Amino acid sequence: MSFIVAIDGPSGTGKGTITELIAKKYNFQYLDTGATYRCVTLKMIKENIQLNETEKIKEMLKNIKIDFEGEKVFLDGEEVTKKIREEDVTNMVSQVSHLQEVRTAMVELQRRMSEGKEVILDGRDIGTNVFPNAEVKIYLDASSEERAKRRFKQNQEKGIDIPFEEVKKNIEFRDQNDKNAKVGALKQAEDAVYIDTTNLSIKEVEKKVSDVIKKKQKLIKKIENGYVMTKDTKWKRFSRGFVKGFLGGLYTIVFRPKMNGLENLPKDEGYIICANHMNYLDAAGLILCNKFPIRFIAKADLYRFRILSYLGHLFDIIPVKRDKSDINSIKMCLKALKNKEVLGIFPEGTRKGLEKNAKVKNGAVFLAEKAKVKIIPVGISGSFKPFTKVTFNYGKPIDVQEFKKDGSEWLDKASNKVMNDIIMLTKKED
Ligand code: DC
Repeated sequence: MSFIVAIDGPSGTGKGTITELIAKKYNFQYLDTGATYRCVTLKMIKENIQLNETEKIKEMLKNIKIDFEGEKVFLDGEEVTKKIREEDVTNMVSQVSHLQEVRTAMVELQRRMSEGKEVILDGRDIGTNVFPNAEVKIYLDASSEERAKRRFKQNQEKGIDIPFEEVKKNIEFRDQNDKNAKVGALKQAEDAVYIDTTNLSIKEVEKKVSDVIKKKQKLIKKIENGYVMTKDTKWKRFSRGFVKGFLGGLYTIVFRPKMNGLENLPKDEGYIICANHMNYLDAAGLILCNKFPIRFIAKADLYRFRILSYLGHLFDIIPVKRDKSDINSIKMCLKALKNKEVLGIFPEGTRKGLEKNAKVKNGAVFLAEKAKVKIIPVGISGSFKPFTKVTFNYGKPIDVQEFKKDGSEWLDKASNKVMNDIIMLTKKED
């Protein structure tokens, strides 16, 4: 299973120490991304390549081999764990790490090394650039005064004698460099958890990070559990009838739904209803105000909300994991269509997808072709303000098989036809 933890932040915040502790605790693979930039720097020093020799750098990057074995780092087969921490590398690495070619190659390497694994990575741009979809994102920070104190103490332990003021100035200079870099700038991801470590011990920081990871793991489990369909028992049917009657009644009072074109619905066969998607109330209207049952397809993470999880199970909503080809979900849809059930899909993929310029999704057409069923376009119009009318216009069935003669792009063409019909139907007068 893939699980990515991204730890970003400026130097001296204890990223390395925390990342190592967490990796041990959870048995995650640890990827020190700073070490990858240090390896490139060491190789440039060894081969006497200057920062402005772009072609030579590109050539060198083609053959570079960086490996990690526990805490050991290998460059082209040679162990360099200590060498990459020496002064010559440290003095040059910041500039090297901000070269576009180096950045591109290292980001690719970091992604490849982490693919499909449970990994914790520390760096500067992990949550923003390397893994923008990481399961957990942490941004560690501390005042420059505190970070300088930590570095000063480390230096003294190593017998390095640099005055405190100079250490602090260096740290502030590096911060500015890292934050203003043209490529791979240090930046907190919007969805990262910010932890100020200035007045915290390592143990306290570790606990905070660990709490975030545990919470996320629990959430993923919850979604996975929600993903399991429940059996259609007598009690479930009774509850569904009751909830549909109650909420459907309420919906009718508040939105005065009007259904046009119901005569277009096929009889005694499965089909797919495709509608425009403005908010959750459009799906609710289709489910609650039609006599026949519609099973909607919805993103699996809805199941993290208790009430939506309950309603999802009650109305047999088919969950789909976003950004992945979800075979399980496809199988459930095909089975339902074979059983002559009605599916509901929003081809926009997300609320107000067209307004956001999202590409029309072709899942509905794909399923219709596989199950040999028709698609019914539905245009929904209305403001969804209480006590105003909402209109549902059902259009003529679309047979997607006819588009297959259009060659390799037939899926997109058929999906666009469905979406265009939906748009026309939203404009249709009563
Ligand atoms: O964390 P470190 O000191 O080993 O990092 C070495 C250099 O690499 C440092 O100047 C910041 C840079 N770096 C980066 O730009 N992006 C990363 N993901 C990791 C490190």
